[in-house]
Amino acid sequence: MDIVLSGIRSTGNLHLGNYFGALKNFIKMQHENQCYFFIADFHSLTTHPTPADLHSNVRQVLAEYLAAGLDPEVATLYIQSDVPEIAELYLLLNMNAYIGELERTTTFKDKVRKQPENVNAGLLTYPVLMAADIIIHKATKVPVGKDQEQNLEMARKFAKRFNRMYNVSFFPEPQPYNFGQKLVKIPGLDGSGKMGKSEGNAINLSDTEEVIRKKVMRAVTDSGPTKMNQTKPEPIQNLFTLMEVVSSKDTVEYYNEKYNQCAIRYGDMKKQLAADINTFISPIREKIIEIYNDTSYLHKVAELGAQKARENASKTLKEVREIIGFKKF
Ligand code: TRP
Repeated sequence: MDIVLSGIRSTGNLHLGNYFGALKNFIKMQHENQCYFFIADFHSLTTHPTPADLHSNVRQVLAEYLAAGLDPEVATLYIQSDVPEIAELYLLLNMNAYIGELERTTTFKDKVRKQPENVNAGLLTYPVLMAADIIIHKATKVPVGKDQEQNLEMARKFAKRFNRMYNVSFFPEPQPYNFGQKLVKIPGLDGSGKMGKSEGNAINLSDTEEVIRKKVMRAVTDSGPTKMNQTKPEPIQNLFTLMEVVSSKDTVEYYNEKYNQCAIRYGDMKKQLAADINTFISPIREKIIEIYNDTSYLHKVAELGAQKARENASKTLKEVREIIGFKKF
């Protein structure tokens, strides 16, 4: 059995791409592995040092995870800042992390470009904190997107380095978890590429009917097919791909026919797509709102998560302290 761990930053809402991508797999995976899912609110401070809405962001992501079907009784679902052991392991790992290798990380270089006015030490050591997140639970599998592969590689490096420096085989090397065939790629609404929160092309799980309609109606299309049965260019294929996940087979078939006969009206198709996305999302959206407003439930979930995560984390940390040589008098 694998120990699977995944973290999500507390900035930004979950979107359809997250849902059909990782989330749906997490919901299955939680029954087959020992799973740790957490909200990385420490990490958020590297880009948002004084967030007015830190707490409500965390509440939102937690409500979304729960509404989507993560079971806090089955998986360990927690908030990073509830587990101070992570911060201590981060401190210890920092002693064996080198400025040079941290400066060479692409995510760091990106951030230096994006926020030159705030190149803080937390940004530099972001991969160290991420490594602490992972190895504190001795995770063996970490589902990550392309943009986080290098950070995971750093986590492997720090785990191996710890083992080598203290001459132990204590931390396993966390491997990327590859969803492979199971991963449905959801395109964005801007004509190319996949749905992502920073691309501004996403439909969020908490979007209202009105917002969904506006976003879908704005989606990029072209002037229409000119030949019967022609291959669809990317922006059009994207609309069909979205339709395939939310609409009935008959609906997809219908618009496919229309396209092939050069008789499609994108406006009609988009209206249908917006309506079907809304039908799909509305029970999730309602659940998110219900959970978001249920403070006593959220409190219980966070407490349980923190308790389970800390139990395991403190065990690891105690052993790490012994390995390094901290001793009580
Ligand atoms: N850096 C990740 C991201 O931006 C979030 C994250 C923090 C994470 N700690 C993690 C992901 C540990 C996986 C494992 O998406």
